[in-house]
Amino acid sequence: AWPRSDLDDILARTETGLADDLLPVEIFNDSAVFQAEVERIFGRSWVFVAHESEIPNPGDFVQRRIGLDPVIVTRDGEGGINVLSNYCRHRGTQVCQTDQGNSRFFKCNYHGWTYANTGELVGTPFLRRAYGEPLDGKEWGLLRAPRVDSRHGFVFASLSADVEPLGDYLGGAGWMLDALVGLHPDGMRVAGPPDRYQVKANWKTAAENFAGDIYHVPNLHGSMQEIGIAGGLDAGGEFGRPYEFGNGHAFMGIAWTTAVHPGFEFWGYPPEIKDHFDLSGLDEMQVHVVTHDGPIVGTIFPNLSFYRGIAMDGSGLSSVITSFRQWQPVGPGELEVWSWQFVWTFQDEQSALQDAVIGQMQFGSAGVAEQDDTVAWEGAPRAAASPWARRERMMFHFQQGNKSEVDQSPDLTWKGPGIRRLTGFGEHNQLHFYRHWLRVMQARDHSAEGDR
Ligand code: FES
Ligand code: FE
Repeated sequence: AWPRSDLDDILARTETGLADDLLPVEIFNDSAVFQAEVERIFGRSWVFVAHESEIPNPGDFVQRRIGLDPVIVTRDGEGGINVLSNYCRHRGTQVCQTDQGNSRFFKCNYHGWTYANTGELVGTPFLRRAYGEPLDGKEWGLLRAPRVDSRHGFVFASLSADVEPLGDYLGGAGWMLDALVGLHPDGMRVAGPPDRYQVKANWKTAAENFAGDIYHVPNLHGSMQEIGIAGGLDAGGEFGRPYEFGNGHAFMGIAWTTAVHPGFEFWGYPPEIKDHFDLSGLDEMQVHVVTHDGPIVGTIFPNLSFYRGIAMDGSGLSSVITSFRQWQPVGPGELEVWSWQFVWTFQDEQSALQDAVIGQMQFGSAGVAEQDDTVAWEGAPRAAASPWARRERMMFHFQQGNKSEVDQSPDLTWKGPGIRRLTGFGEHNQLHFYRHWLRVMQARDHSAEGDR
């Protein structure tokens, strides 16, 4: 059994802690907290479900998750995208048992009720003798996510109708997403299905890390530098350029053209890629960011993260890889990592494959960087489950910067959205993530819980 706090008490202690840039350990492994996260965060926020390049053709579908609920994301005959609950309306059996495919129908393997890929119930075995007349296909269709929208091919869904428009929700993070995949009008596509693997870590630790924890890089990933597949890891603090975008979203850029050399534009993309770039769709500040200060990581609240950087395969081949990953909550101290490699739509097969393979070697389930991180992340849930740590009311330290000799104040010359800072030192992005987390957890309108 997982430890369980009194929810109001732990949220009150989180609020007090955050006023001092501290966090109580319990939030990283607690069933009351986790259950509230599933209801209040995953049940009520825009959550990424798929990239449109995963379901390009009518009938295509992928099986995904929103919080703990399995959903089917389908492309119907009209080209529309549907996000459907994967629970049969008869007894709840999962009507789709595969991760991806192409089908106009989903037939439940229990009694055989059959649903169209728009969710409508279209078939019931032994109809006349069992039911007399057809059941209302809409009334008895699969539940549908009431809000579905996409940005640059990234499909998000909300299980609550009562959310702000996706564009407003993403805010500056949407602006950054546009810049990241808008280096060419055709954008990016997935290189294949996501790698998936479970880690005994809390989903927030992963999201927080990708929001801008550049501090761990020289230490935790130091061995990558020792074996010659990474370099300059020490420079992150000095050349880090954090972006804080509201709603818990945050990215960490690097001042590449200052840190490496003035010609190191666009993350150091090689000429055969860079020559295709067409920035005509980007505004002035987006062009500035992608040219000089591009993010290496970022998190869109709650659980979609981004990575872009040079990766090497040890034989001298290198690529600038782009990976999106999703931190799927599984339990209070357990998470499933889903990791997609992305490539440019204009790339030929050979070049796309090289990037995807190198990306996989670094950020796949057996990837060198991935192994470093996930092992480190397993500490927090153990501390959070420890009766000793709980009794001592152990807090985690997020005060980096309170007495720093480095100026961490917002960059007043920044003309883009959100806040930018001029150093990688500090934990502003992580605090921003947790302050938003707390706001959502404390929001008063929990209508779904009203009748419990
Ligand atoms: Fe699906 Fe009975 S549970 S048809
Ligand atoms: Fe890392």
